[in-house]
Amino acid sequence: MKTAEGKKSQNISIDRLKWKDLPAFLRLRHQIEHDATHLVPEKGERKETILYALARFIVNRRRTYTLIAVNDKKPVGYISIIFAKFKKLRGNAYLVLSVVASHHGRGIGTRLMQAAEEFARKQGIRRLELEVFGKNERALKLFERLGYEKEGRRRKAVEGTEGFDDIVFMAKFL
Ligand SMILES: CC(C)(COP(=O)(O)OP(=O)(O)OC[C@H]1O[C@@H](n2cnc3c(N)ncnc32)[C@H](O)[C@@H]1OP(=O)(O)O)[C@@H](O)C(=O)NCCC(=O)NCCS
Repeated sequence: MKTAEGKKSQNISIDRLKWKDLPAFLRLRHQIEHDATHLVPEKGERKETILYALARFIVNRRRTYTLIAVNDKKPVGYISIIFAKFKKLRGNAYLVLSVVASHHGRGIGTRLMQAAEEFARKQGIRRLELEVFGKNERALKLFERLGYEKEGRRRKAVEGTEGFDDIVFMAKFL
C-alpha cells in the first residue's frame, strides 16, 4: 500500500481515553499545540489544570469520546468525537483530530479517523463534521481522501502570525 497508513503505523494501538490517562493526554495536547501552526490555540495559550480537565471529562463523559493513539506506551495522537446535545441534531457528531509532529506521515491520523468512524457508525451517527484551516493542506488532503466534502467556509476568520486564514467546514455522510 502506498499510503502513509500502510507504511508505518504497525506499532500503534488505539485505545479509549480513560480518566487515569488524563495527565499524559494533557501533556500530549500541550506538545501538539506547541508545535502546530494550523490549530486555534497557540503555544501556551490553553491554561487547563488537571482538576479542570478531570471535571470536564466527567461532565462530558456521555457526549465526548476520545481515542488515543499509543506508540511504545506513549500517546502520540488523539481524536475526539463530540456528540450533539439536543435531539434534532443527534445524527451528527463533530471530530477533533491531532497527531504529534514527530509522528506525522505514519498513517496515525488516518487510523484515528477510521476508528472514530467505526465508533460513530455503531452509535447510529449519520453525519460526521469537522473544521480545518484553509491553509492546512495536509489535513484537507487527508479528509478529502477519506470522503469528507467541503460545505462552506468562514472567510479570514483566523488571524495568526502568518496572516489571515479561512476555517473550512467539512462533512461526510456515513
Ligand atoms: C492533519 C494530521 C492529523 C495528519 O496526521 P498524520 O498522522 O500525519 O496523517 P497520515 O499519516 O494518516 O497522513 C495524512 C497524509 O498527509 C501526508 N503527510 C503526512 N506528513 C507529511 C509530511 N511531513 N509531508 C508531506 N506529507 C505528509 C501523508 O503522506 C498522508 O498522505 P497519503 O495518505 O497520501 O500518504 C496531522 O498533520 C496533525 O495533527 N496536524 C496538526 C493538527 C491538525 O492540523 N489537525 C487537523 C485539524 S482539524
